[in-house]
Amino acid sequence: CGIIGYTGSEDVKGVLLDALELLEYRGYDSAGIAVADTGLKQTKVYKCAGRVKDLRAICESEKLITECGIGHTRWATHGGVNDTNAHPHQVGKVTLVHNGIIENYRELIADYELESVLKSETDSEVVAALLNKFYTGDPDEAIKKTVSKLKGTFALVILFEDHQGEIYSVRNVSPIVATLCKEGAMLASDLTALCRFTNRYFVVPEYHILKLAKDAIVLKDFNGNQVEPDYLEVDWELNNAGKNGYPFYMEKEIMEQPDAIERTITNRITSGMPDFTADGVPDEIFTQCERVNIIACGTAMHAGLVAQALIKSILHMHIDVDMASEFMYSDPVIDEKSLVIAVSQSGETIDTLEAVKYAKKRGAKCLSIINVKGSSIARESDYVLYTNAGPEIAVASTKAYTTQLAVFYLIVAKMAQLRGVFSQEETQSFIRELQRTPDVMKKVLEGRQEIHKLANKVLEAKDLFMIGRGLDYSILLEGSLKLKEVSYIHSEAYASGELKHGPIALITQDTPVVAAVTQEKLMSKELSNIKEVRSRGADIVLFIKESLAKDIDRAYDTFHLPDMQDEFMVMPASVALQLLAYYVSSDKGFDVDKPRNLAKVVTVE
Ligand code: G6P
Repeated sequence: CGIIGYTGSEDVKGVLLDALELLEYRGYDSAGIAVADTGLKQTKVYKCAGRVKDLRAICESEKLITECGIGHTRWATHGGVNDTNAHPHQVGKVTLVHNGIIENYRELIADYELESVLKSETDSEVVAALLNKFYTGDPDEAIKKTVSKLKGTFALVILFEDHQGEIYSVRNVSPIVATLCKEGAMLASDLTALCRFTNRYFVVPEYHILKLAKDAIVLKDFNGNQVEPDYLEVDWELNNAGKNGYPFYMEKEIMEQPDAIERTITNRITSGMPDFTADGVPDEIFTQCERVNIIACGTAMHAGLVAQALIKSILHMHIDVDMASEFMYSDPVIDEKSLVIAVSQSGETIDTLEAVKYAKKRGAKCLSIINVKGSSIARESDYVLYTNAGPEIAVASTKAYTTQLAVFYLIVAKMAQLRGVFSQEETQSFIRELQRTPDVMKKVLEGRQEIHKLANKVLEAKDLFMIGRGLDYSILLEGSLKLKEVSYIHSEAYASGELKHGPIALITQDTPVVAAVTQEKLMSKELSNIKEVRSRGADIVLFIKESLAKDIDRAYDTFHLPDMQDEFMVMPASVALQLLAYYVSSDKGFDVDKPRNLAKVVTVE
């Protein structure tokens, strides 16, 4: 869920609604705001199931005299999507928004006899009721007492009716960032909402009480000691979170990839060699490990699968890629000889965070690849390599994925050099190829109208397969996820050799097949597999490396991917597949940036 809190001299309602729009990627089932009306001395709540634009319509005509308010966009966990379950929740003098899950909410209702005051089915309202029960005029005491009873994860942002102009917050696991700037004091579930105002912020430490007033921020630990906030700076440009004239963030973010890759790699190359000195990542972690474990979710996990293929073939090392949600429960082989690489755009995915904590307890060193500076996983890790992709707003990840890949190429080069697999010249040549990526990606982007035409070929499909071998299969796993996320076409990526062991039963003339052929050594086998599905009636959309395309059957709808060395073909192919998914979704008239049921940042297990 997305959270915002603001107190200051700007138009509070406008600040909250604009911020919620930027935070909608964290959930868009429902939205709400609460504002402390200074004239009436009461806290007014406006909320509804639906999008922020629906909420805007509800409060548009409201005249409010206020300097302070909080807001929330919801991704439902406990309780269906309806107006009552939307946040903020108000009980007595307490109004709050919550992100996370309160595991013992049923016990709390019974132990403190809260049933009669509850209107919704949410765990969050139970916290409001408990706070109100414990509240005798001192917010800090009520917060401490309430928090001592909670089991689970929470970021709570609270208004107390008789403390007008003040916003309180406390958290465990679920993040809250805050800042004081010339427009006032503000907090949010993530930086994107603050970027319009400042690039200085701090992460609220767990189990501390934060109080925001118009021109002051007070942070205290639970013993009442005041703590100085630890401010961080991001190099994201203010306003970079806008759409820049594109109809959707997804398109903008796809187009930004050449620059993003450039930013990710440039400062990490010295004299043609990979260099993590500025990141403070020591060489030993790459030389002393015997095995590598990559942990991540979703698209970030797919970046890990590409890295697995590279690390296996180039470094001949033992490497596992685990879905973070499965990792701890699979009793993984992991100890002080393991290098764990956690990959996450947001740095907040709770399964990945928990997996990192687990791996560290087992003695592993943890390096993370993260986009958001100062995020929870970044702070939990021993070392961090930031991807520098800038804010990614579309729910479907694009530039975060390719910048994660770019970091993996640097890691592979570094490990190969340090472990004696590559000579200096070989390392430099590998890095030179990586440096070509932005230009090669630009070529794919220039050809986007061709891909748009190919998107038409699959527009009406209900089911679709994507087939390839080796690295092509890894690329297609992500391509297929992208397509199903934004177009709702049921798409499955399959290793093409495995297809005939079952799924080929589903191939008919109504099941288009997207194939990738970018690896010279696998090409002839891949082409035979394509023929097998073609002869069962499937229409083929083929993404093929240009130099391999000479003798290809003209019956296929084909896009030529500009040449790179085989192990780098992931880069142009990914961009092409992202564009395919994008055009299918936008041509179908969908809200590309906000696919149904999804949220960009998943902070519940
Ligand atoms: C969600 C998003 C995906 C993302 C995944 C992991 O499911 O919708 O796009 O890949 O979380 O997120 P992370 O922030 O850890 O990369």
